[in-house]
Amino acid sequence: MQTDFLVIGSGIAGLTYSLKVAKYYPEKQIIVITKTQADETNTKYAQGGIAGVWDEEKDSYDKHIEDTLIAGDGLCNEKIVEIVVKEGPERIKEIIEYGARFDKDASGEYSLGKEGGHSENRILHHKDVTGQEMERALLEEVERTHNIRLIKHCFVIDIITQHHLGYLVTKSTTDITCYGVYVLNVHSNAVEKITSKITLLATGGNGQVYRTTTNPRIATGDGVAMVYRAKGRIENMEFIQFHPTALFEPGVSPSFLITEAVRGDGGILRNKQGEAFMEHYDERKDLAPRDIVARAIDNEMKKNGTEHVFLDCRHMDKEKFIHHFPNIYQKCLSIGIDVTQQMIPVAPAAHYSCGGIKTDDMGRTSIKHLYACGECASTGLHGANRLASNSLLEAMVFGQRCFTDSTELIEEINNNNHFPSELPDWKAKGTTEPKEMILITQTRKELEQIMSDYVGIVRTDVRLRRAMRRLDLLYEETESLYRATKVSPQMCELRNLITVGYLIVKGAEFRKESRGLHYNTDHLEKSALLQNIIL
Ligand code: FAD
Ligand code: SIN
Repeated sequence: MQTDFLVIGSGIAGLTYSLKVAKYYPEKQIIVITKTQADETNTKYAQGGIAGVWDEEKDSYDKHIEDTLIAGDGLCNEKIVEIVVKEGPERIKEIIEYGARFDKDASGEYSLGKEGGHSENRILHHKDVTGQEMERALLEEVERTHNIRLIKHCFVIDIITQHHLGYLVTKSTTDITCYGVYVLNVHSNAVEKITSKITLLATGGNGQVYRTTTNPRIATGDGVAMVYRAKGRIENMEFIQFHPTALFEPGVSPSFLITEAVRGDGGILRNKQGEAFMEHYDERKDLAPRDIVARAIDNEMKKNGTEHVFLDCRHMDKEKFIHHFPNIYQKCLSIGIDVTQQMIPVAPAAHYSCGGIKTDDMGRTSIKHLYACGECASTGLHGANRLASNSLLEAMVFGQRCFTDSTELIEEINNNNHFPSELPDWKAKGTTEPKEMILITQTRKELEQIMSDYVGIVRTDVRLRRAMRRLDLLYEETESLYRATKVSPQMCELRNLITVGYLIVKGAEFRKESRGLHYNTDHLEKSALLQNIIL
């Protein structure tokens, strides 16, 4: 298969870009690959909403910029923050044009929610299922767009570079170029190659590297691992955001999220004794940025020897609660909790990767002809801690920016005509069917355990060293299994997750300070040197 524009991922980032390109080049076919169902993405599970300056009387770009910078704890790229905040509202208008419906109040104005770290109400939402509504609108627009071919159940294994043509490629190679991808057709079990002039990685997050996560099964950090293997630049992987309030439901994975918007509407965190503890940690109490709330909960759980704290909504107006959060209300009822009568047991869960594939202000990665957008990318917006509801916004703003840049790049590629005439097929020689798939599942469990026990919300040098030694062993064993067996999505995901785990630990080891989401009790001070850890 050959194409000019190849997109990996059908979440908000991949679809925003694809629609832009397809509408601009109606004569070209855009290929979008996704590893399971089209809508099985982190995007679909987004609850709280999308941040944007909407009410210009009360709110302003400056306030949204300021809130983002404060949450990011010194590491945001100010230029990128300004770009995203200022270009965001235009992108939101576009998705509304595609058909996304955001809730309005009685006067017909958008009803704007509030979440941790926001100084104003600026979150547009669709009940408590905003992501599902946005994904629906995007997929329906894709269906209406004749020149997008969406290929489901295809697993991208690796990007193709000069390495596959037999050249030595190292971290110091300056012109590493992407020529397409190797992809496993999950139904036929065949590995095919797709050559492309321009490739966009929109592969989402990596929450599945932890035992408890809000992320669905697809969130295995594939894009980050592929770029790292191809010797591209990855940064700030130590900044894993733990959402403070995932529903505590032992044995259920992924964890069901209780959106921060519930606290925005008045929900109060209480410990085992029923005490509202957040006032002891931050003057913004329950609406402090996520890193602070998650650490406070972690501390309360450790102090009291409990596996969760409580979110108290009993004082909230029942009708309003059900109107804004129908999905949460129903989910809690389904496990025997009537939120108007009982408190909700909640605990932190891995939620969002602030770091990722390093990009510039147009979404270009360190590998030529390869863009990255959405959660897999590190644009500099989030710094050391993402402000709630800035992620969907970033994906749309950068979807547009990658598209704008691609229109120039495609001209340049066409004029230079330096695309290799022949790319090698996937080499499967010498590999056999895996004898024991159970080895893959067990290693994955071990990995999740290691990451959760040693690389969670509170870290120490000893814990990080322990994690690294254990990951080394898993890496060695898995690589030898990978070389000997036929490729499968399960095997590829395990490999990718081990790489992601390694990158998180490595980043955490390099960062000798506590900043934002990275908290190491052996280095509690903030370093005077503001630096991104590039791996
Ligand atoms: P995704 O939407 O995750 O899409 C990734 C795509 O890549 C999928 O289609 C997947 O199949 C594909 N893919 C991955 N690897 C491969 C591969 N190897 N081969 C082929 N395809 C592949 N953010 C907010 O701003 N507001 C919120 O309210 C909010 N709530 C959230 C609630 C939950 C429960 C979660 C999990 C996240 C939430 N977030 C929220 C974060 C936000 O939803 C995500 O960061 C964002 O949707 C990511 O979009 P994306 O397009 O980058 O990736
Ligand atoms: C939430 O609804 O609490 C999640 C919002 C986000 O992750 O930005």
